[in-house]
Amino acid sequence: MKGARAGDERAAIEPAAIARHLETTWLGRRLECFGEIDSTNTTARKLAEAGAPEGTVVIADSQRRGRGRLGRSWASPALRNLYLSFVLRPPLAPESAPQITLVLGLAAAEAVREWTDEVAIKWPNDLVSRGCKLAGILTEMTADDGRIRFVIPGIGVNLNSEPEDFPPDVREVATSLRMITGAPVDRARFAARLLNRLEVRYDLFLREGFAAIAPLWEGLAHLTGEAIVVQSQGERIAGTALGLADDGALRVRQSDGSERRIVAGDVTVVSGYRRSRATGAA
Ligand code: BTN
Repeated sequence: MKGARAGDERAAIEPAAIARHLETTWLGRRLECFGEIDSTNTTARKLAEAGAPEGTVVIADSQRRGRGRLGRSWASPALRNLYLSFVLRPPLAPESAPQITLVLGLAAAEAVREWTDEVAIKWPNDLVSRGCKLAGILTEMTADDGRIRFVIPGIGVNLNSEPEDFPPDVREVATSLRMITGAPVDRARFAARLLNRLEVRYDLFLREGFAAIAPLWEGLAHLTGEAIVVQSQGERIAGTALGLADDGALRVRQSDGSERRIVAGDVTVVSGYRRSRATGAA
């Protein structure tokens, strides 16, 4: 970009700038950085189909067709934020894929906490701050014969967006790290910090199972004991969050005393998240 300097949050993201802060063994050791592409998830999927090794990372300066969960789009203005996807080849059954998303959400929250502690995980995979959405994760999987061939997690973190960078329909419910801290964020440095945390938490998950992740996740979600409302597959479920089940499902105690396990849906914390003051409305 004309006039951009190295370290400038508006400069194109360069592999060398990321490598400077990278402490990983396998994640991001193959790193592909692009200007504008359709979606980093699409490119990472193509690389995976072509045999790219686990840990291959794709980053773009902007996306023409950034995708979110549930068929939503993901606003991806140029040179502002982080749009990152990577290739995982977990030795797991497809049923474990939702756990992977939770693991990555924990890692992303820990990375954000190097900039601010005003962040909470919103089940299943959003990061929220001051009631607004800061980041989202879209996990796409390809499986054959009951085994995962590869998983492509795509993570979007709003780093330097200003309110006017967001589409009008999400402006009230979206935020960026810069809006929270008041300071510009070096995208390459953030990307490296994120990759560092992702590798640590994913390795822990593979080594010790989801049981090692659940308490860490719950510590950053501030959800257990809260009154919540979940919209799940057309149903509205109200109750008290009991925490995560061993498989990553959200356990909810309903007012009649019965317990529900929620595997997909959108959560609203009735009183807002304590640490992030989030309403979950993103
Ligand atoms: C969500 O909260 O709905 C998930 C948003 C995921 C957005 C990221 S940006 C990088 C990657 N590429 C995409 O097209 N989507 C994900």
